[in-house]
Amino acid sequence: MGFVRAFGPAALAAGLGLLPGGGAFAASAEKGKAAYVQHGCWQCHGFQGQGGVAGKALAPDPIAAEAFTAFVRGSNGPMPPYPEKILSNDDLADIYAYLQSIPKPADHKSIPLLNQ
Ligand code: HEC
Repeated sequence: MGFVRAFGPAALAAGLGLLPGGGAFAASAEKGKAAYVQHGCWQCHGFQGQGGVAGKALAPDPIAAEAFTAFVRGSNGPMPPYPEKILSNDDLADIYAYLQSIPKPADHKSIPLLNQ
C-alpha cells in the first residue's frame, strides 16, 4: 500500500488512526473537509464536527467506520439519510478521514513523531 509514501510522516502522524481495521478507508482528510462542507454536514454538526448546532458531536473520536457509514446511509431520525446517489462512498470515506484527522486537544504531545 502506498499510504506512507503518498502522505509522508507528518501527514501520517496527523492522521494516526486513519485506517481502522487496516485500510478499508484509504481516504483523504483534505478532500473530506471539502466534502463535509459541500454536503452541508457542518450546518448541523459544526465545521469541526464539534456538534452543538442541531446534530451531535462527530469529532474528535468519531464512532466506528461501519456504524458511521450505516448511520449516514440509513438515518431515519432527525438527520436526513444520504444515499450513495447524493454522497458517494469516496466522499463519505473522505469525510470520515477528515473527522478522524481532527485532533483531540493536547493529544499531539503523546505522538512522538510530532515532538521531534
Ligand atoms: C439537518 C441537520 C443535519 C445534517 C445536515 C447532518 N446531520 Fe448528522 N446528525 C444530525 C442529528 C440531529 C443527529 C442525531 C440523530 C439521532 O440521534 O438520531 C445526527 C447524527 C449523526 C451521526 C451519528 C453520530 C453518533 O454518535 O451516533 C453521524 C455519523 C452523522 N450525523 C454524520 C453526518 C454527516 C457525515 C453529515 C453530512 C453528510 C451529516 N451528519 C449531516 C443532524 C444532521
